[in-house]
Order: sequence, then structure tokens, then C-alpha cells
Amino acid sequence: MEELYHLYCADCLKKLKDFPENTFDMIFADPPYLLSNGGISCQNGRVVSVNKGKWDESKGIKEDFNFHKKWLEACKRVLKQNGTLWVSGTYHSIYQCGFAMQLLGYQILNDIAWFKPNASPNMSCRCFTASHETLIWAKKDKKSRHYFNYDLMKNGDFPKDFIKKPHTQMRSVWAIGTTAPKEKVFGKHPTQKPLELLERIILASTKENDLILDPFTGSGTTGVAAVKLGRRFVGIEQNPEYAALAGKRIDDAYQHRENQQ
Ligand SMILES: C[S@@+](CC[C@H](N)C(=O)[O-])C[C@H]1O[C@@H](n2cnc3c(N)ncnc32)[C@H](O)[C@@H]1O
Repeated sequence: MEELYHLYCADCLKKLKDFPENTFDMIFADPPYLLSNGGISCQNGRVVSVNKGKWDESKGIKEDFNFHKKWLEACKRVLKQNGTLWVSGTYHSIYQCGFAMQLLGYQILNDIAWFKPNASPNMSCRCFTASHETLIWAKKDKKSRHYFNYDLMKNGDFPKDFIKKPHTQMRSVWAIGTTAPKEKVFGKHPTQKPLELLERIILASTKENDLILDPFTGSGTTGVAAVKLGRRFVGIEQNPEYAALAGKRIDDAYQHRENQQ
């Protein structure tokens, strides 16, 4: 693949069939958490619905599990032998994804707790405030010899993460704030991930020029981080509005990179 990135507006379950086996060095997947079922939350002091859209509605535990297993299987086929897969989720989805990954033979390397110091308060006051998401990091199978940039994770500069101390091993709890408004200037996506999170993931698990896939691209955060860091990127997003937003964001990152060189 010659160009730095490709974006497809398609259902990833169909589109993934077009790629040959063993194509990607790393896959970051932020699938629907399937939690849009009428709950409420609090944002800037206001009560808001947690509903993200039709694409995020649960169809029941078994059907949800089948969906996660299908896309995880399709991703395994296109992941290189020494490649790794990252999956993000909350309790609504992450246990299903983790179990499906184990059934499919992926080997889990870490489960990262992404702690959000500025998470919204809990409205019901009947349980703890949800303030983290989980990221499962796994290699393709037992034989895979995966890449980990241990030195950069230990000795790199992470000034905004109060958990990470200089020159000590990176732990599996990362303190990273929710997505800043300045990252939303091209438009809004209800579950946009912060750039800082994707940059850390890409730096930890890929080398320059590696090929990264995001089958649930959304607003394109993985593509923005990939292009910024000199990795090649393939994104798939089924919603045309979100795909257009991702295109604008990734083009902008590409222009920035070109101007710097
Ligand atoms: C949790 S969001 C991803 C957000 C993204 N990480 C970001 O930073 O903007 C999941 C996305 O997957 C898309 N999606 C859901 N099912 C899909 C499918 N079968 N194929 C491709 N995209 C899908 C949704 O439209 C949504 O934009």
C-alpha cells in the first residue's frame, strides 16, 4: 500500500473480506459498546441521555456476543502473525470481547485501565462513578512474537499522566482526560477517543511505517494519530457522516505532517 491512509465507508464485516490474510501490523478496534438503552448521565451540570445512536443499541446478550465474535474473527484473519490487537470497551461489552478473543485463540498481553480523572459524576448516587474504560491488548496467538516499545514507555515523556513517574515502568493504569473540545473542531462524534490515548497505543505497539487498521473508525482518531506518527492507516466506518468527519480530521493531520517536513 503506497498512500499513507485509506478510508472506506462500509460495514467492516463485509469490507474485511477484501483484505488478504496477514495484512496489518496492528489493529485498534473501538466497537459499539451497545449501551444506548435509555440511561442518563450528567454533562456540565446537565442531565443528558447516554444514547449514542441506533448503531449502539443492544440486541440482547447472545446477538451482541455473536457480533463481537464475528468481527474479532475477521480481524484475526487480516492481522499479521506477529501483529497485535487492541479492543476498547466498558463492562457493557469488554467481557464479551475478551471471552470471544480467548475462544478465537488470541493471547491477552494486558488489560489496561484508562482512568479518566475528569469523568462525569454519577446521577443516581446508587453506585460508584464510572471513570474508566478497559483496553485489552492481545497478540494473534501463542506463537506470535509481538513488538513492544518498552524503552519509550518507560523513559518517554508523559507529563499529563500523574500516574506515570519518569523513568519507571509504564503501569497498566493510564490517567488520560476525556477528549478536549479542541479535538472536535471538525464536528462531533458521540464517542470520540482522545488523541493522547491513541498516540500512546500506537507508540507502544508499532514501528514507523507499520500498517494500522481501525474497523470502527468513527471520527478517525486512530487515523489522525497514525498519520501524525508516520504510520500507514486503513479505516472502515459505516456511517457516511462519521466517515466524512474522519476524512477531514485525517486530511488535516496529513497536511500538518507535510508542512513540517
Ligand atoms: C465507539 S465508535 C468509534 C469511535 C472512534 N474510536 C473515535 O475516536 O471517533 C464506533 C463506530 O463504529 C461504527 N460502526 C458500528 N458498526 C459498524 C460496522 N459494522 N462497520 C463499520 N463501522 C461500524 C459506528 O458508526 C461508530 O462510529
